[in-house]
Amino acid sequence: MVFDIERITSEMTIEEKISFVVGAGILWLPNNPKPKIKGAAGETREIERLGIPRTVLADGPAGLRIDPLRENDSNTYHATAFPVETMLASTWNREMLRKVGQAMGEEVREYGVDILLAPAINIHRNPLCGRNFEYYSEDPLLTGEMAASFVEGVQSRGVGACVKHFVVNEQETNRMSVDTIVSERTLREIYLKPFEIAIKKAKPWTVMSSYNKLNGKYTSQNKWLLKNVLRDEWGFEGFVMTDWFAGDNAAEQIEAWNDLLMPGNTYQLFKYRKKEIDEIKEAYERGEITEEMLNERVRTILKVLVNTPAFKKYNYSNKPNLEEHAKVSYEAGCEGVVLLKNNGALPISKETKVAIFGTGQIETIRGGTGSGETHPMYTINFLDGAIEKGVNVDEVLAEFYRKKIVQFRSSEYAITKGQWGEDIVPRLPQDFFTDEEIEKYVKSNDIGIFILTRISGEGVDRKLEKGDFYLADDEYNIISKLSKAFRKEGKKFVVVLNIGSPIEVESWKELCDGILLVWQPGQEAGRILADVLLGNVNPSGKLPTTFPKRYEDVPSRSFPGEPADNPVVVVYDEEIYVGYRYYDTFRVEPTFEFGYGLSYTTFEYSNLKVWRDGGEIVVSFDVTNTGDVAGKEVAQVYIRAPKGKIDKPYQELKGFEKTKLLNPKESERIEIRIAVEELGSFDGRCWVVEEGEYEIRVGASSRDIRLKAKYILD
Ligand code: BGC
Repeated sequence: MVFDIERITSEMTIEEKISFVVGAGILWLPNNPKPKIKGAAGETREIERLGIPRTVLADGPAGLRIDPLRENDSNTYHATAFPVETMLASTWNREMLRKVGQAMGEEVREYGVDILLAPAINIHRNPLCGRNFEYYSEDPLLTGEMAASFVEGVQSRGVGACVKHFVVNEQETNRMSVDTIVSERTLREIYLKPFEIAIKKAKPWTVMSSYNKLNGKYTSQNKWLLKNVLRDEWGFEGFVMTDWFAGDNAAEQIEAWNDLLMPGNTYQLFKYRKKEIDEIKEAYERGEITEEMLNERVRTILKVLVNTPAFKKYNYSNKPNLEEHAKVSYEAGCEGVVLLKNNGALPISKETKVAIFGTGQIETIRGGTGSGETHPMYTINFLDGAIEKGVNVDEVLAEFYRKKIVQFRSSEYAITKGQWGEDIVPRLPQDFFTDEEIEKYVKSNDIGIFILTRISGEGVDRKLEKGDFYLADDEYNIISKLSKAFRKEGKKFVVVLNIGSPIEVESWKELCDGILLVWQPGQEAGRILADVLLGNVNPSGKLPTTFPKRYEDVPSRSFPGEPADNPVVVVYDEEIYVGYRYYDTFRVEPTFEFGYGLSYTTFEYSNLKVWRDGGEIVVSFDVTNTGDVAGKEVAQVYIRAPKGKIDKPYQELKGFEKTKLLNPKESERIEIRIAVEELGSFDGRCWVVEEGEYEIRVGASSRDIRLKAKYILD
């Protein structure tokens, strides 16, 4: 059946139009429609007489979030848990993001969902943002490129993606009301940029406006943002939905070109809100909302929805290829592991006897909490993965941990339920060995590994405290005891970071011979770590976000706003100097810089050539594997602008490419094209590309520049 959108719109009554721009309701509350797919975040409304079916929207960036279990149904509906977005960005591999998107898109389609509420593309402005794990990077180009590939992947499966949260939602503290104050230059160059890239390159079906205000106005009620910038300037043709329960005026949202209000019936949870439908109707009766406005919103939504599986009456199987997708999740995780330090500690061989410490070997963190949570069939923890892959682990120690954790969780560290039914998981103590016990494990093993975990999620920011940004005392104590004991015997000691966002490492990094960052790697966690430890996989991830030496160095000092105990306003007064743009310009040395990551091999860069081809600057060079094992390298191109009228950061990432797997001595010629207009800055009114001498800087990280060339732009 072909849907004639014009005809259908003209046949809708005004009441139908008004209700159609409001979501179907809070599906998990009584007096709302029963969800079509249990655990999905929301639905659009059905209008039976016009043949409009309900469509289903579900989270989120690390995997499709639906309930795995249904009442009176013995089937299960598990979806694959992929690595968190920050880890996906650590791959710097567009093709990998496309593959993950395809796999997730297939699960969306085969489980009867129409639109995936991902990717999330806010910026890592501050390491304490509780949802950083759901975002890619501190850099807008890397974020935008990762998002574009992911969206292409998802949508290639005939379902929609949703880029969110539009825009400047870089904190969880008071996220539903905080007013983000930001200059237009900063907004355009840092925070809008990833959206602009993703929208222009990949044409996502939908955009989700954010909870917060932007310079005094809720983003969902901001016509400049949703009409002038998004549609008129960037040519976005899909529809905009609100974040769940966002804003304070439904009529203003509709007027501001926020097409769909989600989830609908917000007043049922937020008593100060009016019924959306009444609010819109009253504005219509007052003449503030016209029928033409409603027609426009309805048409915009329908133009997207007619492409959904629901409209096409797609007969979904409830049987996505989970085995295949587990492989994709594993592969993506392997490419996202970042080797931060290695003084000859890694890789190990199958003969190496390994003592694994830390409760995280069993209580492995696959991802964060909130709407970005996942419900996979299984999570292979680090211990089980190591055993499965043949790592020679100390079984006595492993058994000790298994029992210890059961004992902890059945007594004072029991897991309880929070107000939303979420698990509240107290952090377990880590330092419970006597010196003699440690000595015994050191004697009977060749290497010591400690697993350090962190988890965070939606609704709360992380804390600048021990046990979160800093090591807890017991974590520090066990790390230093193990370090001392293993080193005394001439043995190596490695820390594995199973975290979603940077922590302070500077004060204890010298205690380690190796540091491996495995982020929150999804359901295949243990297999990924084991293969990297054994050298079956050569780490090729690079940091998408800086690890600062100390929190006091972080430029976003205004985070999370003023007044400190209950922020109303947050001023992005570090302006464009976010992440490495700040550290490089103001000469603040980080612990691990943006773009950094080691390998078990080494790479050499050579033969840099730079030339102009029409509107593009072409940067081309060779990358050669000069070590003994095969590996992949992420080559990065930074550009340093001439001194002109507008202040510029020391350098900015303008291109990157990951090599194929290069065998020892093998080279690959990399060619990166940079549009000249991408060298511009926003001067407050328009984009300006200044003339003069640009420095093209090619390197293995933002601070490991291997080749340089001048390029004169006139
Ligand atoms: C989150 C969104 C999510 C939505 C639906 C909101 O609380 O901010 O990212 O898509 O809920 O679950």
